[in-house]
Amino acid sequence: MTITVRLNHELRTFNTDAQETLLHLIREKARLTGTKCGCDLGECGACTVILDGRAVNSCCVLAEQVNGREVETIEGIGTLEHPHPLQQAFMDAGAIQCGFCTPGMILSAKALLDHTPHPSRADIQKAMSGNLCRCTGYTKIIEAVELAAERMEKERG
Ligand code: FES
Ligand code: FES
Repeated sequence: MTITVRLNHELRTFNTDAQETLLHLIREKARLTGTKCGCDLGECGACTVILDGRAVNSCCVLAEQVNGREVETIEGIGTLEHPHPLQQAFMDAGAIQCGFCTPGMILSAKALLDHTPHPSRADIQKAMSGNLCRCTGYTKIIEAVELAAERMEKERG
C-alpha cells in the first residue's frame, strides 16, 4: 500500500507492506539513521520517535498505522548549527557517552516537555523509563532534561 506521512514537517509518500515497521521505514526508506535499532522488541527505547505528539517505540508500530499521521525523528528537531535545547543540554550536562540511546532519550524528553514544561524529577523519570542507557547512568540524563526545561522556560520569557 501507499502511505503519506508528515515526517519532520514534510509530507512524504512511501510504499509499504503489512509487515514493515515504522522503524524500518524511517531508517531504510527515509534514510533517517538517527533513529536507532537496539532490540527490535520494544524493550530499549533506542527507536523512540514522536507520533502525533506522543513518544512511541517505532519498532512496535507498523508503517501502515502512520498513514495520514505526523512523525518526528531526531533529524526534525535540531541541526548541528542550531541544536534543540535538549540536544545542547545533553552535551552540556555530560549525558552522552556512546550516544546510541541519545536520540530516543531526547525524543522521549521532548514529548514530555511539549506537554509538561515544568516537569518534576518523578515526571522525568517516568517519561524516560522506557529508554535504556548502558553508559552514563541516569543521573546526568535527568539533569540534562531539567537543564533544558529551565533554558526553554527562559527562552519563552
Ligand atoms: S529498538 Fe525499539 S525498543 Fe529497542
Ligand atoms: S550513551 Fe551509550 S547507551 Fe546511552
